[in-house]
Formats: sequence, structure tokens, C-alpha cells
Amino acid sequence: MRKVFEMDHPLIQHKLTLIRSKDTGSKEFRELVKEVSMLMGYEVTRHLPLEDIEIETPVCKATSKVLAGRKLGIVPILRAGLGMVDGFLSLLPAAKVGHVGLYRDPETLEPVEYYCKVPTDVNERELLVVDPMLATGGSARAAIRFIKEKGATNIKFVCLIGCPEGIKALHDEHPDVDIYIGSIDEKLNSHAYIEPGLGDAGDRLYGTK
Ligand code: PRP
Ligand code: URA
Repeated sequence: MRKVFEMDHPLIQHKLTLIRSKDTGSKEFRELVKEVSMLMGYEVTRHLPLEDIEIETPVCKATSKVLAGRKLGIVPILRAGLGMVDGFLSLLPAAKVGHVGLYRDPETLEPVEYYCKVPTDVNERELLVVDPMLATGGSARAAIRFIKEKGATNIKFVCLIGCPEGIKALHDEHPDVDIYIGSIDEKLNSHAYIEPGLGDAGDRLYGTK
């Protein structure tokens, strides 16, 4: 079943408002993207299985829970996805990190691939593909296609801001991929930018134009 999880936690919504504002500079923007990614990480990892182990507290012996050792991977879509990696790694320090390099051709708006390296044992891992924006959906669709070609079968997509057009496009090609999203905005504009959105995520993260 296709699933989209919009995260309505007040802290995520508050920080997204700061991220959206054109008055937020690159330094603060980067910090906020990291913080929101970490908060989203709590929701995205909610389903992780636990197992019981025996421990001894200072008071007595006890049975207590630990993560059941599921292998995880984080795969940012370059460039802007890099801004989300540290937030996820601070929650999941043992996760491996892959990279998919794509950019949207400004004329055709089609994604152009320039790099793809996935974590080891990719077929055994749950992969979190991260990118702040899901606009036309072209980049996410292509990134996930490349990762599947390398053997990945268990993938979730995590983004800060998306729109109905991007969600539909991604699920049309990859109905098995759950989408975790901070905000589903109103629409794409005629330049394929999300409205209200946050502008160009890569440029805002890295201070380019
Ligand atoms: C942005 C963003 C997504 C893509 C979303 O990247 O980070 O990857 O656009 O748009 P889409 O859903 O229409 O494909 P961009 O192509 O600007 O590259 P960058 O990360 O290198 O700035
Ligand atoms: N890429 C971005 O960075 N922002 C948008 O609004 C759309 C695509």
C-alpha cells in the first residue's frame, strides 16, 4: 500500500517556517535543516524492531530492549540532500552512507546523473533516501531507480517539503517506497519550484546562485 507520512510535530513545523523565510541566511539554514532532519529521524525510525537482552542494573538483573540490529543506510541526493545527513547520523551513528549525484537540467528539468555509490550489503539494508525537496519528483524517481538497479529493495524517501505533483510522480514509479515529508505544499509553479516552498535548497544551503 502507498503511504505518505506528513510530520505535523510542532517543532518540525516551527523550524520549517524559519527555513522557508528568505531572511534566513546559509549558516542558520544549514543548522535548521540538520535539526529538522534529526526530528524527522525519530518518526522515520519508529518502526525499527527491538529485541530483549539480559542486563544488570545497579539494583538487579533485568530484561531490557535494544534495536534488533537492522542494517540501515542513508543516501543523500547531491547536493542538497547532504544537508540532511548529519541530522540522521546523529540518531543513527552506525548507518552507512551512500551518495547519488543528480541535478535538474535547467532547460529540460530532467535529472542528470553524475555519481552513484551505495552502501555495502545494499540488498540487506533499509535505505533512507534524503533530499530536502520533492518538486516534479524527477530527481527522487531517478535516484531510487539507480539505487534499485544496484540491488536495494527496502527504501524510504525523506524530504522536508514536497507537493502533490511530486508525491504522485514518485509513487507512480515506486509504489513500494513510503514517503516521509515535513510539509505537503500547495503546488509547483511554472518554473517547477514549490510554492510556497523555500526556494532553491542547494543554493540556500551552500550560499550559491
Ligand atoms: C533540487 C532538490 C532536488 C530536486 C527536486 O536539486 O535538492 O534534488 O531539485 O526537484 P525535482 O523533484 O523537480 O527533481 P537541484 O537539481 O537543484 O540540485 P542541487 O541539489 O545540486 O542544488
Ligand atoms: N528544487 C529546489 O531546490 N526547490 C524547489 O522548489 C524545487 C526544486
